[in-house]
Amino acid sequence: MKGILLAGGSGTRLHPMTLATSKQLLPVYDKPMIYYPLSTLMLAGIRDIMIISTPDDLPQFQRLLGDGTQYGVRFSYRVQPSPDGIAQAFLIAEDWLAGAPCALALGDNLIFADHLSVLLQGAARRDSGATVFAYQVRDPERYGVVTFDAEGRASTLVEKPAHPVSHWAVTGLYFYDARVSTFARQIRPSPRGELEITDLNRIYLEEGSLQVEKLGRGCAWLDAGVPDALLQAGMFVQTIQSRQGMLVGSPAEVAFRMGFIDAEQLREIARTVHKTELGRLLRNMADGEAGR
Ligand code: G1P
Repeated sequence: MKGILLAGGSGTRLHPMTLATSKQLLPVYDKPMIYYPLSTLMLAGIRDIMIISTPDDLPQFQRLLGDGTQYGVRFSYRVQPSPDGIAQAFLIAEDWLAGAPCALALGDNLIFADHLSVLLQGAARRDSGATVFAYQVRDPERYGVVTFDAEGRASTLVEKPAHPVSHWAVTGLYFYDARVSTFARQIRPSPRGELEITDLNRIYLEEGSLQVEKLGRGCAWLDAGVPDALLQAGMFVQTIQSRQGMLVGSPAEVAFRMGFIDAEQLREIARTVHKTELGRLLRNMADGEAGR
């Protein structure tokens, strides 16, 4: 399975912070935002990842992430010329995907949960249909919203409904089978002029192959699209890391735990951030102190 990390958009809801830089490069506590969804994809076991961003911002992502060797993965880069919707990613990446199944993570979404790797690797293993995740929120009108029937099966999907009939938001992490680009071609722009990911998901829903997994209480899903959410995400990460001494959203840690890199390679990454607490935690991990 391949992975796409979408870091496009103009971040207008975070202006002026995003006037001169990409939203997905803003800090969430001690790391650039994109580290979090990148870690999620890697935790799913995905090692071939395309980063899609605006023509202006793409070079910054290349500078930050390189070719992926340091994490034992492979990064490719491609431009989304204008913000024409999330589902456009599958048209932009179609030739690169070459018929492979694909996971898509939005660059401003952060998921934290116990046993997340089990959930993600399960979704990555399904070879037909699509898997998305639903999370209960107070303000569903900001998201794609899913409703469930009496048997708990997903019944409707609506993008940013003015009057949501459910509190279940669809998170920005999606797993699709090999038909995803073909289905993406069938979508037409929405009233806001975008190829909506919700319309793509509805194609799978209507053919009965969309699996919607509910993320429960023990799980945090945060997006960082508005100032309050950005601050909350940072505070969340700070709370867990300082209380538990455990890292959240570190691709280096995930690479090490997944066996993509060895202890010496992890030490090498730790050296690049040696003046920071992050560097200390990575070094300890390489030295085998984690978990003691
Ligand atoms: C997008 C999707 C929406 C999803 C959300 C998750 O919204 O369109 O369905 O719930 O991401 O973050 P947008 O970021 O375009 O507002």
